[in-house]
Amino acid sequence: MTTSSKPRLLTGDRPTGRLHLGHYVGSLSNRVRLQHQYESFFIIADLHTLTTKPEPQFIKEVPTFIRETVLDYLAVGIDPNVSTIFVQSAVPETFQLNLLFEMLVTVPRLERMPTLKDMARDANMDSMPFGLLGYPVLQAVDILLPRAQAVPVGRDNQSHVELAREMARRFNNLYGDVFPEPEPIIGDVPLLVGTDGQSKMSKSLNNAIYLSDDAETVKQKVMNMYTDPKRLRATDPGTVEGNPVFIYHDAFNPSYAEVDDLKERYRQGKVGDVEVKEKLARAINNFLEPIREKRAYFLAHPMIPRDVLANGIRRMQAEAKATMELVREKTGLSYSLDLFADELDIFGNES
Ligand code: TRP
Repeated sequence: MTTSSKPRLLTGDRPTGRLHLGHYVGSLSNRVRLQHQYESFFIIADLHTLTTKPEPQFIKEVPTFIRETVLDYLAVGIDPNVSTIFVQSAVPETFQLNLLFEMLVTVPRLERMPTLKDMARDANMDSMPFGLLGYPVLQAVDILLPRAQAVPVGRDNQSHVELAREMARRFNNLYGDVFPEPEPIIGDVPLLVGTDGQSKMSKSLNNAIYLSDDAETVKQKVMNMYTDPKRLRATDPGTVEGNPVFIYHDAFNPSYAEVDDLKERYRQGKVGDVEVKEKLARAINNFLEPIREKRAYFLAHPMIPRDVLANGIRRMQAEAKATMELVREKTGLSYSLDLFADELDIFGNES
C-alpha cells in the first residue's frame, strides 16, 4: 500500500445516474485539480441511495449507475494512479462504524439538519424514516473511516460536514483521539442552471446535458434551450445577464472574442438565437469530445475500469480495517473479538 504525506480528502456522489455538466462545473473539475494536492478518496455512496429509495426496483439499477459514475470519473480525468475510487457498500466497516456513531448524536440535532426535510419531501415521504434521519451520520462515517481532513462539497452538503466535525470531536473526547476534524472545501461557483432556465441542472428536472451525451443529442438540447423569453425576434434587443445560453457560453466557450461579439450583437438585436445556439453547441461539443473519447476507450477496455474499482475497494478496505481496529481498541469493544479468540475469560476458570 502506498503511504502519502499529503493530507487526505474524501468526497463523492450517490450513484443515481450519469453525471452532467452541472456536476462538472460544480465539483468534478475541482476534484481533478485537488487530487494532486491531496491523497484523494472518491466514494460512490450507494448506501445513501437506500435512504430514499430502498425498493428492490431501485436497488436493481444501482450497479449500472455505479458503472456510469466510474466511467464519468475516469473520463473527466480523475486519475486512478493518484486517487482511490470505491463503492461504499463494499466496505463492511461502514456499517459497523455507523452503529457506533449513532450513539454520538441526538435526534433533535439531526432533526435540525436543513437538508433532510427537503429530501423526504422530494421523495414524497410523509414522515422521516430512521435511516434518512441518519443520512448525515452515514456521511460522517464515509468521511472519517479513511480519516479524511478535507471534504470538497457544495453548499447543500456543508451542514453534513459540520456534523462530521462534531462527531469526530465527540468521539475523540469520549474515547481518545482517532479522528481528525474534517474541513469542508466549499466551491464558490454558482449552481449551473438547467437547459430550461431552472435554477439547477438535475436529472429529475430533465434539464441536463450529460457528459456522455453524443454530439447530436447535445446539439438538440442546446437548440431547445430556454433563452430570453421577452425576445421574440432576432431584431429585438435581448438580455444577456442570467440568460442560460450566455451562462453556458461563459462556462464552456474558450473564445472570449466570440462570446463578447455574440453578447454585443444580442443586446443590440443583431443576432438570432439560432446562431448563438449553434456556436454554443459547437463549444460544448468541443469541450465534451475528449471526455467522450476517454469514456469510449474505457468502455472498449472494460478490464481497466473494473481493475480501478477493484483496487480502489481493496485500498479503502485496508484503510477501514485499520481505522476500525483503532476504534475497537479505544472504545474497549475489542472484547468481543478477544472473547472469540479465547483471549478474554469472563467466566473465570475452575482451578
Ligand atoms: N451527500 C452527498 C450527496 O449529496 C454524497 C455523499 C455521500 C458524500 N457520502 C459523502 C459527499 C461523503 C461527500 C463526502 O450526494
